Amino acid sequence: MKKINVVILAAGQGKRMNSSLPKVLHKVGDIPMLCHVINTASMLDPNKIIVVYGHGGDTVLDTFSDEKSGRYFTNGVTPKITWVRQIEQLGTGHALKCAVNELDSAAVTLLLYGDVPLITKASLQQMLARYNDNIVMLTANLPAPLGYGRIVRDNSGSITCIVEEKDATDVERQITEINSGIYLLPNTKLFGWLNNLSNKNSQKEYYVTDLVAMAHQDKIMVDAVITTHTDEIMGVNNKLQLEYLERKYQMQKADELLLRGATLLDKSRIDIRGTVSVGMDCIIDVNCIFAGNVILGNNVTIGAGSILKDVVIKDNVRVNAYSLIEDAVIGSGCQIGPFARIRPGTELAHDVHIGNFVEVKKSTIGFGSKVNHLTYIGDSEIGSKVNVGAGSVTCNYDGKNKFKTIIKDNVFVGSGTMMVAPVKIGDGSVIGAGSVITRDTPENELTVARAKQITVLGWLKRNRGN
Ligand code: UD1
Ligand code: CA
Repeated sequence: MKKINVVILAAGQGKRMNSSLPKVLHKVGDIPMLCHVINTASMLDPNKIIVVYGHGGDTVLDTFSDEKSGRYFTNGVTPKITWVRQIEQLGTGHALKCAVNELDSAAVTLLLYGDVPLITKASLQQMLARYNDNIVMLTANLPAPLGYGRIVRDNSGSITCIVEEKDATDVERQITEINSGIYLLPNTKLFGWLNNLSNKNSQKEYYVTDLVAMAHQDKIMVDAVITTHTDEIMGVNNKLQLEYLERKYQMQKADELLLRGATLLDKSRIDIRGTVSVGMDCIIDVNCIFAGNVILGNNVTIGAGSILKDVVIKDNVRVNAYSLIEDAVIGSGCQIGPFARIRPGTELAHDVHIGNFVEVKKSTIGFGSKVNHLTYIGDSEIGSKVNVGAGSVTCNYDGKNKFKTIIKDNVFVGSGTMMVAPVKIGDGSVIGAGSVITRDTPENELTVARAKQITVLGWLKRNRGN
């Protein structure tokens, strides 16, 4: 197999996005468009990925220098990228020419675009399979080819050139086979062709499309793979097109989940902004959002409107509607929500119940424990078989520092208890409702810390004078 040099054009400004963000950094599925393209390109095992950048250059480079950018890529690592700056945008041909010093003389160049994010590995592989030291293009037949370059073929069906719409005759405009702009180009010929590009056309630009006519003149066959999946060649110029591709991408992700066996009650009402893996018999209700890396075990049910980010959920868990779980591990058999908020650093053992309007932050909760109503658990270590009554709070913050609450096994915390950290509730303790616990409590004893209830006899009579 020939060496592959991938060149991704990403220098355009994207004026019509009406945004200060460079166009190729706008996201589909929460991943910058350029990263989608780089991801797909790296699946072909190229020996080089060259990105031609220009507008918003520093922001583009910053995005990739940040080590966190690894999260945008399949194996968590940002591939090695060779950056080439195109200072002035003089056309696609000029942009490719900017990369010429980086190309290997005997390799094949695959030209891609930073704003065409859904290009598939399958089509690129088909193109590579056809490659024979010639040009292989990716084309499509569009009933409404408006705006695209048209593929001109001779009587024998051979491709002779591409005409840009702005340069096309009325007859040429009737052609429905369009240029995706994606090509394989033989480097042995490419360097010479690029030197001969001119900008004598209606846009005064150096067109990469002119390489096709040059190849034809040099009797180099111009072959084409015609794709029927037109979404993969769609580019993004404005927010309307960005939203269109976002929906297409989400539909693909939903289809993948369904084919892996998940039940989605409505595949058009799920958003995947990262990766989701599912065991058997998972059911996902409508309007859920999955972000980062979410792992669901077997027989997990996710209620409507729930949001999960970077979460591991073990088998037989039920997350009820409108729960928010982030950066947490949920043990098997747990029941969460509805309306629960589980924040980063939380680990629940098996069979834990977290009920409605309960917030848990950076805490571990042992098996079989229940925190069912209106409660805040923060910076805590809770043992197993503990019951925390409604409206209880671990008071973990004194305005300056955070402190830890430790609740040992088999504790019963009465409703409305304030546990002022640092504090330890001993094994088997029972805390009377409404207590404010400021000191550690002894094991297997009842502790009550509240004002005694009194009845003031005769008070009403005396004060109301009757
Ligand atoms: C190009 C093709 C057209 C094809 C269409 C497919 C040419 C001359 N025409 O037209 O045949 O149907 O794509 O979408 O190639 N870019 C740079 N530097 C430049 C100019 C462009 O990096 O100097 C980048 C842009 O950021 C963009 C891409 O190249 O991502 C395509 O450029 P654009 O001007 O949008 O080409 P089209 O007019 O759409
Ligand atoms: Ca243009």
